[in-house]
Formats: sequence, C-alpha cells, structure tokens
Amino acid sequence: MVPPMSGQTPSEQCFTDAASLSKTDWAEARQALTGPQPGSLNIAHAVLDRQVAAGRGDRAAVLSLGRRYEKRRLSVAQLADQAARLAQVLTRHGIVPGDKVAVLTGRRIELYVAAFGAWKAGAVFCPLFSAFGPGPLKSRLELSQAKVLIATEDLYRRKVAGLRASLPDLVHVLLIGEDGQPVAGEDAEDFNALVAAATPAATIATQAEDPAFLHFTSGTTGTPKGVLHSHSAVVAQTLTARLVFGLQEDDVFWCTADPGWITNTAYALIAPLANGCQVVVDEAEFDPRRWYGILKDEKVNVWYTTPTNIRMMMRYGAALARVYKENSLRVAASVGEPLNPEAVAWGEKALGVPFLDTWWQTETGAIAIANCPGRAKAGSMGMPLPGVEAAVMSRELTRITPVDQPDEVGELALRADLPSMFTAYMGEGAHYDSSFVDGWYLTGDLVRRDSDGCYWFVGRADDMIKSASHTIGPFEVECGLMDHPAVAEIGVVGKPDLLLREVPVAFISLNPGFEPGEALRVELLTFARQCLGGALAPREIHFVDAMPKTTTGKILRRALKAKAVAEPEDDELILAPVHAGRFDDE
Ligand code: PRX
Repeated sequence: MVPPMSGQTPSEQCFTDAASLSKTDWAEARQALTGPQPGSLNIAHAVLDRQVAAGRGDRAAVLSLGRRYEKRRLSVAQLADQAARLAQVLTRHGIVPGDKVAVLTGRRIELYVAAFGAWKAGAVFCPLFSAFGPGPLKSRLELSQAKVLIATEDLYRRKVAGLRASLPDLVHVLLIGEDGQPVAGEDAEDFNALVAAATPAATIATQAEDPAFLHFTSGTTGTPKGVLHSHSAVVAQTLTARLVFGLQEDDVFWCTADPGWITNTAYALIAPLANGCQVVVDEAEFDPRRWYGILKDEKVNVWYTTPTNIRMMMRYGAALARVYKENSLRVAASVGEPLNPEAVAWGEKALGVPFLDTWWQTETGAIAIANCPGRAKAGSMGMPLPGVEAAVMSRELTRITPVDQPDEVGELALRADLPSMFTAYMGEGAHYDSSFVDGWYLTGDLVRRDSDGCYWFVGRADDMIKSASHTIGPFEVECGLMDHPAVAEIGVVGKPDLLLREVPVAFISLNPGFEPGEALRVELLTFARQCLGGALAPREIHFVDAMPKTTTGKILRRALKAKAVAEPEDDELILAPVHAGRFDDE
C-alpha cells in the first residue's frame, strides 16, 4: 500500500529514488481504515477502535508533560474508553452528528479525549487557539455555531465567560479544572466528572464525506474563514505521515503545534496514533533546555515543528545543543514558512538529523509537498508526495494555464482529488467554488519549480501576514482596533522580523480630538492585546496623518509595507515577549 522508505540517511541529497515512490493508492488505504460499519469511515474508529479490536489497546498512546513535568499517560484503550464516555455525554447534551463541538484547552491530555469523543459522537471537532483574545474567539464561536464548548476553566473564565450572552448557539460549557480540581459555577459543568460517570457509547458510523473538523484561517478581507474537513482526511494524514516521517510502530512522535492550528489536528492527534505511534504533548511554553530535554529523555524519534521554533533553538547556540546530541531522533521536519538551508544544516549539526521542510495549508488538510528522507533539497519545499498532483499555474481571472518552464514563478495548484482537501468554507459557498478551477485547487502561494521538480516558495499572492509560522489576516487585526474610539482609519501589514519572519504592525490615522503620542500608543497596544490576544495584536503602532490610498479609495498596503520596513527599530514598543511562536498573553 505505502512504499517503504528508502534505506538512505535523511542527509543524502538524492533524487534518484523519487521515482521509486509509486503513486499512492488512496482507495486501498481508505479500505484499510474503514469502519465501524462496512463502507463507513470515522476518524476515531480508524485511529483507536481498529487498534483496540486488533488487541493493541495496551500500547502507549499519549504522554502528557505538565508545566512542572508531571507525567500523565493514556493507552490506546484508555483513550478510546474515555472518548466513548465523552461521546455519550455529548449525545445526552443533545449533540447529533454534524453538530460542532468547540475546544479551548491548549495542549493537554484532555484535548485528545475531546477530539476523539467528538468524532465518536459523529460531531465536528473545532479547536480554538488559546492565544486568541475574546474578539477572535467570539467571531470563531459564532461562525462555528458550536453548541458545546470544552475548555480549561482558566481560559474560559478569562476569555469566553463574558461573551456567553452574545453566543446563543452555545448551550453547554464543559470545564476542566486546574490540576483536576472540581469545577464550580452555574454557567458550566465539570468535564472530568461527566466523563467519569458516563457509560461508553459506540462510535457512530459516519461516511467518508461527513464533516469531522473545522479550523479557521484568515483572509485578507472579511471575517476568518471556517475551513471544513471530512473524515476522509484521515486517509491522507495517515499515509502522508508514513511517507514523510517514515513512521514505524511504537515511534515516539512530538508535534509542537498549538491545537488551534491544523498541524496539531493532523499530525499530533490523528496521523501518529493511526500509525501506532505514541505522541508526546508538552503543556509548557518554549524553553530551550526543556525542549532539548524532552527530545532526549522521552526518546522522541520524530519531531515536527516550525522554522520559528528552529530559529529560537538556534539562538541558544550549539554548545547547549551538544549536551543533548545523544538523542533518539530519526526525522525532524518543519512547516508553516520557508526553511532556510542554514536551519536544515543546523539540525544535522546540533541534533544529528537535518530538518525536512514540508508544505501544506489548512485547506489541503495534509502535507502535499515535502522533502522526504532520501530525497531532500535544502531550501526547497521538496516534491509533491506520491498521489499528489501539483502544478505551477498562471492565473488570469478564472483562466489558468500551466507554467512549464523551470524556475518561472506562478501560483501553486493541486489536483482537487486529495482525500484531505477541505469540503467547504463555512457559509461562503461562492468563495469555496472560486478556489477551484478545472479540477485544480489554487493555493494563493507563489512558487517556482526547478528542473529537478522541486518546489521553491516565493511568496503569497495576497496580503496575508506570516508571524511565528501562523497566518494572520490583516483585516481581522484592523477590525479589532477599529473598535477603539481614537481610530479613524487603520492599515495593518507584516514587517520583516529576523526571528518571527514577520510581525503585524499598524498604521493609524486618528479621529478629531485625539492626539498622537506615547500615551495613546500604549493605550492602543494594550487595547489590541486585550481584545485580539497575543497572537494577533500588532507589535508596533505608527500614527499617520493620512492613509496612502488607491484611486478607488482602498488602503494601499504596499505603501504601508514600505513604510514599515523603513521604520527605525527604536520606534518599537513591545508589551510582552513572544517566545518561539508561543504567545505569552497571561
Ligand atoms: O503560505 C504558505 C505557508 O503557510 C500557508 C498556510 O498556512 P496555514 O493554512 O496556517 O497552515 C500552516 C500549516 C499547515 C501556505 O499557504 N507555508 C506553509 N508551509 C510552508 C509555507 N511557506 C513556505 N514553506 C513552507 N514549507
């Protein structure tokens, strides 16, 4: 079904065996994952129930490391059992297949119970980013129409409780108390108590095309887009993880992504467990010693992280890395932004394995292009995986034509038949339809393909900001700040940053009666952090008398970007540190 990985070491820069990776047979793979009824497909069944039925329930599934390194573990059977109990709780709370269950927990063991419980009940798992403030959380909860929210008590009380009155769809809130403490309050119930008291429910026999998870991605205009995926995604996620990471049963797999991002759903929750691996979950924030320690002490074999995290590790130097060089790593990979050759080489020097760059999007649901062990070219995104057809296209309105010349820039397009391809932008049918032309999904990324067939990232075709490997829509940041009475007009752009690649910066013109100055700047930055959260708030604010505009009156972001680049460093005012893509918004 899946071609074996070549025996070459990951560092070998070789393309000859690319051809030996035959076209993956998605249908055959789907057949292997089918259940609980013949012809049905449910992620929870494919990942957990299948293993339990095969007598492999005792295998380690999740190892969670608390902030003080307290270890909590779940075997496959324990996770399946707790998820089945949660499924019964959800059903009792009125959840029917297709309903959304929002989850705001950060990285922790209950996230696994929540996700697989939702899937067992046939519900749609909708994880939210814990570094978002109340504003972005409200718009996402509204768009999802979630009936149930599962959250830690702390995140709920700080960010969502005040919004309850404006979220009529949200009927039930299930809270996880700090350190297992029982939860009190009239507006919520105790997640752990409910799960413990429930009886396990059987997994619903969903179909491959039934909705399974919902993630949000930002657009350059309008509200965030709800990107819906079906149970069929498990097929591509399971196989791509095997192809790229060369996963073997009992591998220890660590993915550092926050649950709000699809990387976590695909490659922390689904793919490694479906391949019989154990996942490591770290609840704490970035700390280089801790991260090296986890890699070594927990005998991590496969590590999936971001270029920003790698740059953070690099900053702490090779001497620290050398202390931990004796590790169990076989493959290390990154996603989210370009990975430069220096970072690839540093991986080899510091950790003993080079980093493999992988490319995909929330919309594609699984890795589409990657450097695989044995066929890697540092600095490039790699090649399309077997079973994935990619092309460079030139687009004019609704017409596309392939760009066949090597190294010519065009828009990256993928054949729409990828099993993990998104099935809808929630409530935006026309936008969804316009993303596909002649059976190709157009990604919005500008790339070039070299004569070896490797793809190189050139940039985005739109104004999206990439900060700490996360995609930020300037419009959402602008909307958040427009609520402040001082703001007349605002334009937000990405300013290049050595560590985070870009940081969002805002240019603001003021309403009459407001004076530009340090006091107002601090007030606006604080306001932005409170309402948008650390992940979206601009890092700098600049006052302008008038916005540069196009002849049709639109803010000229290009001109603002040039201004942002020219702004001197000492003009910056940073309110709170951002560590390696993790946003400290305590
Ligand atoms: O622009 C590309 C960039 O991240 C975008 C997708 O972001 P998101 O939907 O948030 O998903 C991120 C993780 C799956 C892409 O359109 N991107 C992703 N991977 C790479 C990349 N840019 C360059 N190189 C990559 N390897």
